[in-house]
Amino acid sequence: MSCTRLGLSLLLLAALGWTEDEHGSEDSSHPKKKGPGHGHWSYADKDEWPLEFPDCGGQMQSPINIDTNSTIFSRELQPVVLAGYNLDPSEQLSLMNNGHTVVLRLPGSLTIASGYPQEYRAMQLHLHWGSPEGPGSEHTVDGRRYDGEIHMVYYNPSSDSIKEAMRQPGGLAVLAAFLQVGPEDNVHYQHLLEQLHEVQEEGKETTVAGFNIEGLLPANLGRYYRYSGSLTTPSCYQTVNWTVFNQTVLLSKEQISLLETTLQGDDDKDLQNNFRLTQSLHGRKVLASFQASLSPRRVPLPDDGVPPMTPAPDGATERSTAEAPGAGAGCPPCADSEKQLGFALQTAEVLAGLFGGLFAVTALAFLIYIYKQRSQTRRPDSHPKPNVIYTAATTDENAV
Ligand SMILES: *[C@@H]1O[C@H](CO)[C@@H](O)[C@H](O)[C@H]1NC(C)=O
Ligand SMILES: *[C@@H]1O[C@H](CO)[C@@H](O)[C@H](O)[C@H]1NC(C)=O
Ligand SMILES: *[C@@H]1O[C@H](CO)[C@@H](O)[C@H](O)[C@H]1NC(C)=O
Ligand SMILES: [Zn+2]
Repeated sequence: MSCTRLGLSLLLLAALGWTEDEHGSEDSSHPKKKGPGHGHWSYADKDEWPLEFPDCGGQMQSPINIDTNSTIFSRELQPVVLAGYNLDPSEQLSLMNNGHTVVLRLPGSLTIASGYPQEYRAMQLHLHWGSPEGPGSEHTVDGRRYDGEIHMVYYNPSSDSIKEAMRQPGGLAVLAAFLQVGPEDNVHYQHLLEQLHEVQEEGKETTVAGFNIEGLLPANLGRYYRYSGSLTTPSCYQTVNWTVFNQTVLLSKEQISLLETTLQGDDDKDLQNNFRLTQSLHGRKVLASFQASLSPRRVPLPDDGVPPMTPAPDGATERSTAEAPGAGAGCPPCADSEKQLGFALQTAEVLAGLFGGLFAVTALAFLIYIYKQRSQTRRPDSHPKPNVIYTAATTDENAV
């Protein structure tokens, strides 16, 4: 049942993917270009992006709101496995304010080794945030916007070039995680935040000594959403295979504030609220590597002793600083009970469907019976044959 649904949705995803048309007019992939004119855009004129960048008006745009009740659980979505992230401090990485965000360049030796059907290589990471007045993640979950969001951007190395990869379906992958206020400083983010003041103005660049880049992501890389979407800034190319992690990353209140108030954008104003509003799904499906919700149609299990499948949203606390590499690949006991629960639920769903069907047929037979009874009582010349009628109804029921 869910296999059929998954198959259909994958077909749909593929179909949507292949309809992407080729075009190569503007090159907006160089955020270094300054000033107004060709390739210039801002968060203030989001509505006008499609005029200069046609893909921004497409049907597979990002970000989106993730409605957990509508996600489709897929057993094929294996935990994301990263390789090569623990960089030596002697390695110098470029950190830059491009007027829209702060970007850390990443060496291509950082890869996604598993979790996608193909390998991806890192290009850069950057952040989205709000302001002291409100949160600023790009994706939302069940309508909730988080304080911020990290995007690690990857390309498919089997393309001839990064530019080529940007225009091919699945040519890009982005790993996204939500940033949330927590009780303590996040030591991994401190590597970036302590140097933010050096890139206060647009175009400023500095270097950051290598550190464990994986620490910027949640500890649990096993629970995530997957969907086909786009870059969230012009050019808005619709070639990104998205991963949005379910576990959030915690930073202290002071760290989030520093992010919200340090940088300046292209107009020398505070660089704040650098997020795009959520875009329509246009029929796209969002897959989940975990059972993200109890579908409303499902009947309760007889055994209520099943442990809760997921921690409360804030239950992510203890693992969010990603200190324990062993815990990084998810928690197998939870995964197992989730699988069992998933199976039990599917069985329950099938039974519910079966009984629903039987009930409908019985009700229909009853209505027919009443109807015939009434038309017989209205017919003056009728001779009652209740047994025949009863037998007919029973036969129908058996035919199901
Ligand atoms: C995106 O990822 C999904 C699931 O991992 C995969 O089935 C699909 O083929 C990918 N899409 C593209 C266009 O690469
Ligand atoms: C994580 O998953 C749980 C269970 O589906 C959900 O309640 C929660 O909102 C999710 N959080 C995020 C950030 O996806
Ligand atoms: C998901 O479905 C359940 C069951 O109908 C409902 O109680 C819950 O409010 C829904 N959650 C969201 C976020 O829509
Ligand atoms: Zn982004």
